[in-house]
Amino acid sequence: MALSPASARSRNTVLSPRLEALLRDHLGKDAVRLEPDTIGVAGPELTDRILAARRATEIERPTFKPLHGRSITRTEASSVTRTIGSDVREALKAPLPQNIDLSGPWPLTGHLFLRDLILGRDPRRLRILMSRNLELTPLLTWLVISAGAALPGRPKPGDDLTELGKLTAKAANYQDRRYALGMYRRAAAPVCFTISTLVANALWLGSPFDDSTPNRNIIFESLRLLPPSWNILRRASPEYPALDPRIGTGDDILVLPLLSHRDPALWEDPNEFRPERWDHLDPDSTPGYLPFGHSSERCWGRHMVMPLAELLLDQIRAAGLVVDPEQRTAKVPLLGLLGVSEVRVLKARDAR
Ligand code: HEM
Repeated sequence: MALSPASARSRNTVLSPRLEALLRDHLGKDAVRLEPDTIGVAGPELTDRILAARRATEIERPTFKPLHGRSITRTEASSVTRTIGSDVREALKAPLPQNIDLSGPWPLTGHLFLRDLILGRDPRRLRILMSRNLELTPLLTWLVISAGAALPGRPKPGDDLTELGKLTAKAANYQDRRYALGMYRRAAAPVCFTISTLVANALWLGSPFDDSTPNRNIIFESLRLLPPSWNILRRASPEYPALDPRIGTGDDILVLPLLSHRDPALWEDPNEFRPERWDHLDPDSTPGYLPFGHSSERCWGRHMVMPLAELLLDQIRAAGLVVDPEQRTAKVPLLGLLGVSEVRVLKARDAR
């Protein structure tokens, strides 16, 4: 059995106090009152019934919530997801750049690599929308988008752009340009931010990986212990009280993969990073495992996640990169996206 190495097992992952309290107080419970108007749900059966009861509404969706007050229809969301999907496929077809160096602080290093790999053809005005600093304040994002839409020298139809970039070049007036730039960020952000976070989590949890361990198992096991989408929100809705008497008519529901992914009733050695458990488990049908949401409507970008995360892991493993042995602790802040805030990655020979 390929247990994670002692160096990985002795690392200390410091969850934010709220996340720590959720695990300490509610692990193993199927439903729990978190706030006067919010129920947390982690039991696989109840989770299944809640998520199957109806689709996510536009304000519950993680990616395509209304933009500048304008609803994004499912048709448009699906078309934009296909567009970024085709840019990802193009990028994966082309030869990889020479001298890739993925050492440095993660997830930032992975984020910049993915941004340049997939959106490298786009001008700075578009790529700047992928700045991690914009995460800090929605106001800053709004300013960058507004300036990008207003200033001269904008991308034009006919420029050498990604398919996603071409959507911004087509916009005819200021309002449409602002909307198109917002959409560019919405569609490209999960590719750059979420996948680099997932791989940073994997490195922290298990690096250096045993040569015989497939990337696929590493990814599924990281998604289990540190699921980037650690909660799935459903606003109060008439379907829910009928499913369980503990749910009131005004209760919002927070489905909590963070808890179900570590429930001792569902997992052997739930807190251990054991990628080999995925030799025999089907990630699409394992009860309580829902890093990409519910089977009735799984993440639309999932087909991009696996190849890109595997590409990153391949490069890291081939280059002999590992987590700095001097780093004993990493913090996991309370954010929408669950992940270690910084992991230092370096060449194994520099690590001695
Ligand atoms: C590690 C990476 C990712 C994780 C863990 C993840 C997770 C999820 C989850 C849990 C849902 C279901 C939400 C719900 O039911 O309320 C979802 C939906 C969705 N995801 Fe992902 N996702 C990832 C990457 C991506 C990427 C790369 C894209 C590409 C654009 C994407 C686009 C979407 C879309 C369009 C939806 C459907 C609803 C919406 O947000 O508009 N995701 N994802």
